[in-house]
Amino acid sequence: MAVWLSQRVGINGRVMATDVDITYLNRLDLPNLEVRRHDILSDSLDALDPGSFDLVCARLMLFWLAGKQEIAIRRMVECLRPGGWLLDEDGDWGVVAPVDPSHSHYELYHRVWKNGEWWAERGYDPMFGRKLPMLFERCGLVNIRHKASASVVRGGSPWGQWWLQSLEAIRASEQTDGSLTEERDKEYGVLTAPLTDPSFWFLNALIHACRGQRGVS
Ligand SMILES: C[S@@+](CC[C@H](N)C(=O)[O-])C[C@H]1O[C@@H](n2cnc3c(N)ncnc32)[C@H](O)[C@@H]1O
Repeated sequence: MAVWLSQRVGINGRVMATDVDITYLNRLDLPNLEVRRHDILSDSLDALDPGSFDLVCARLMLFWLAGKQEIAIRRMVECLRPGGWLLDEDGDWGVVAPVDPSHSHYELYHRVWKNGEWWAERGYDPMFGRKLPMLFERCGLVNIRHKASASVVRGGSPWGQWWLQSLEAIRASEQTDGSLTEERDKEYGVLTAPLTDPSFWFLNALIHACRGQRGVS
């Protein structure tokens, strides 16, 4: 996204990319891209020059900030100049579901996933993405527009890879904080095994794109 935006704004434009983990961003070498390590929840906004940005974008980030999304949105709004736009793309991860009841992974997958309850058990909102327009309005944005789309993809696809890496990262964090029970570990096995199997088709998350504008007065 940082690369795409840097190309879009051209040589005279400026893009600032922030993340708590800038390992990937640091590999990018573009003349109009500045990379900063920044926690949107707790680091001071002063370093980002609040009130100056034409556009603030986030993608697949807010979902993870369980219960703190509104704080993060308010802080992103503070970064906008009057009339500037906030754009967020985020998901309803809970809707992911295999499509073929005759597939060998189907039943076990549903039993573990429980229509997204798997996320709720970990403190996440499995239907977070659809709340973006409501949260944007609550944070004072106007001219709000929202779209959502979903696709059916297969194991081994880029989304299959994305899910595999995400579930492995969550498993690793549970291992670190001591919450990875034997039963949970088995559940990770059930959820990750089909993700490299091209015969396993699944409805991917509903991906929401929401934009809203900071008022000018
Ligand atoms: C699923 S990745 C998405 C990365 C990128 N936006 C994209 O669409 O490819 C979520 C990112 O959010 C970052 N993140 C998580 N909590 C954050 C926070 N409090 N402040 C800033 N970045 C955060 C993570 O380090 C991670 O890089």
